[in-house]
Amino acid sequence: MKNRLVMSLGCALLMSLGGAQAQETDPAAKLKVEQVAVGTCANCHGREGHSISPKFPVLAGQHANYLLAQLQAFKGQTRGDPDALGYMWGMAAPLDESLMAGLADYYSHQTPRAGRKGDPALMARGMDIYQHGDSAEGIPPCAVCHGPTAAGTDAYPRLAGQHVQYLMKQLRSFQNNLRNVAVMHGVAQGLKTNDMRAVATYLQSLGPAT
Ligand code: HEC
Ligand code: HEC
Repeated sequence: MKNRLVMSLGCALLMSLGGAQAQETDPAAKLKVEQVAVGTCANCHGREGHSISPKFPVLAGQHANYLLAQLQAFKGQTRGDPDALGYMWGMAAPLDESLMAGLADYYSHQTPRAGRKGDPALMARGMDIYQHGDSAEGIPPCAVCHGPTAAGTDAYPRLAGQHVQYLMKQLRSFQNNLRNVAVMHGVAQGLKTNDMRAVATYLQSLGPAT
């Protein structure tokens, strides 16, 4: 029994290694990913994921695990904000699993750009919330999950350099459960609009540091 488990784990590992290798070395698959990224996704998310319009999230330097999970959520129609529904459900529908993984990998390898500074008082309040939370309002420090420089990890998304407008909209969607993620619902529940703007302004100002 134990041996069989070890063997099947071994097979699964070999298969997943094989899959990752195939993607890196298969020039046709790589070309397809680049064609979709440049020909389709770039229309909204910008060249190499450096989006200009604040409605469209920056994808450059985001973690591959997170990107893949979001594409799966759009395709599975579980990320249900009206903009997700209006823009991304249709985009993700025709993507198969290996193309989604390829696109996630592609964007995770693009270098994030320098942040854009905002109002100094808002940035200062935002930094305080991000690094220390606000215990009176029941808000935990964001840094414990998203990291001290907001670079994120394999388990938590990068937030540094993201557009204020997009960040605020996601925080509202977590609050009202249109984007249904229990952990962020709990975190964002007590965030007032001014504090949301402050933390988003601070995050947009952060650059590529990892
Ligand atoms: C017509 C515009 C448009 C196109 C084209 C588009 N997207 Fe999007 N994308 C959006 C919008 C708008 C959002 C934010 C949705 C929301 O607010 O919930 C988004 C969100 C995302 C997210 C979530 C990012 C995050 O930080 O959570 C990923 C990943 C993504 N898109 C990948 C892609 C990929 C890959 C393609 C190409 C196959 C693509 N998008 C094409 C508009 C677009
Ligand atoms: C306990 C861990 C934890 C804490 C603390 C936390 N987050 Fe998150 N956050 C997450 C997870 C997990 C996700 C990914 C949700 C998903 O899978 O869609 C996330 C996602 C987000 C997103 C969406 C990013 C995107 O690209 O769409 C934003 C914005 C965000 N968090 C902001 C914050 C802010 C601001 C704080 C502090 C007030 C904070 N988070 C504290 C775990 C946390």
